[in-house]
Amino acid sequence: MHTSAPSDDRSRIDTIVSLCKRRGFVFPSSEIYGGINALYDFGPIGTRLRRNIRNSWWRYMVESRDDVEGIETSVIMNPRVWEASGHVQNFTDPLVDCLGKCKKRWREDHLEDERRARKLPEGSTGCPECGGDLTPARQFNLMFRSYLGPVEDSAAQVWLRPETAQGMFVNFANVVTTSRARVPFGIAQIGKGFRNEISPGNFIFRSREFELMEMEFFCEPGTDDEWYAFWKKYRFDWYLDELGIQESHLRIREHEKAELSHYSSGTSDIEYAFPFGWGELEGVACRTDYDLTTHQKMSGKDLSYFDPKKEIHYVPHVIEPAVSVDRIFLTVLVDAYEEEQVNGEERVVLRLHPDLAPYQVAVLPLSKNEQLMQEAHSIEKSLRGTFATAYDDTQSIGKRYRRHDEIGTPLAVTVDFDTLVDHAVTIRNRDTMTQDRVAIADLSHAIGDHLGRARRDSRARAHRNASSQQ
Ligand code: GAP
Repeated sequence: MHTSAPSDDRSRIDTIVSLCKRRGFVFPSSEIYGGINALYDFGPIGTRLRRNIRNSWWRYMVESRDDVEGIETSVIMNPRVWEASGHVQNFTDPLVDCLGKCKKRWREDHLEDERRARKLPEGSTGCPECGGDLTPARQFNLMFRSYLGPVEDSAAQVWLRPETAQGMFVNFANVVTTSRARVPFGIAQIGKGFRNEISPGNFIFRSREFELMEMEFFCEPGTDDEWYAFWKKYRFDWYLDELGIQESHLRIREHEKAELSHYSSGTSDIEYAFPFGWGELEGVACRTDYDLTTHQKMSGKDLSYFDPKKEIHYVPHVIEPAVSVDRIFLTVLVDAYEEEQVNGEERVVLRLHPDLAPYQVAVLPLSKNEQLMQEAHSIEKSLRGTFATAYDDTQSIGKRYRRHDEIGTPLAVTVDFDTLVDHAVTIRNRDTMTQDRVAIADLSHAIGDHLGRARRDSRARAHRNASSQQ
């Protein structure tokens, strides 16, 4: 849709990684044992951000619509599911090994990008790292294996799901029967997925355990194109209007025929201009009747739908928007991160949408004075049920403002010595750093107004510069 050049600035990812560690967004998994490749833990601030991303998606995709139902299905399913879905056969990536010095392992289809990123001469064919020869490609299945029960033989072998989608297909008839859903309608799910990626990387962009947010929208055959167009736009708009992602950093890319997954008749990626280049943020795919038909064949159960108005039976076609919380998490941080000079000092500010911010309001006593601390505590408690609040009395007030700027808290309420006399506090705005004096009695209302304005500002920021990039 829009094509601004991605900023070719890999060091920006390092800056985000270090912010994530320093402030408690993301930690390497099992860090005290040296970590484990491409697996991550989320700290207190990161957990809040993830929850807000999930809530926003669920509100937009399920709660605000009357044609989508939510379900939750198990991570381990009957292994025949993955035979029917084609994952046992087709969910593979081409793997090549370096025979030279570095012995690195690569995804063959990523080699060109890796060479480009390292600025190697056009036409290079060797290992992107050391130039050594590469083995021929062999197919590697990305699904993690496990065993059900105590005996580790092939009869007990199961898979950790690589997508949540199959849980929704195999429950199609259950949902139709119990919720009286009528086609067209969708089934949505949020849950963990696992992939033994050959070349994970770029921090949480490609990890081995991640959290998917997927929706299968069942429609009458022949209406696919119309719904495909609808969902592409609906999903694109979410990033701008609900998450405040800048439109000039987003585009929609239609897949070439050769790129399509085994189940897809058409797929578009919503891409983001990451510091390492344009990358897939979300996929919107036409899955046709592939999944329901193969499950029908393999299970022997009727998965057709009876249209009561037209009095016909058919197997619905499916449009599927799918994205991970983890990729959105990275996108949101990269997009919100700004550095600016204030009075000769550098200020780092995360311009997060107020509904994504880990905290919406920080309540800060000006100093460690007992009375101020007591007053600030009681204000914070009174706001807690309505807003996501934090209380903080460590370090100087300037440092606390900086800390909350860095984690994206849109508002800080400061309790000072005048408060004890005039029963008023100051509201400081993260983005403009302007301050407003407000009576404590009106505080909740004033914060509501400020957050409303912050939502509008976030939307305006998202749309800014968009038209000049088209
Ligand atoms: N059910 C469709 C499906 O799984 P996909 O394009 O393979 O499609 C969907 O994955 C989304 O999941 C991607 O658009 C991306 O947001 C996310 N995703 C895929 N692999 C990932 C990984 N290794 N780490 C983090 N997110 C990943």
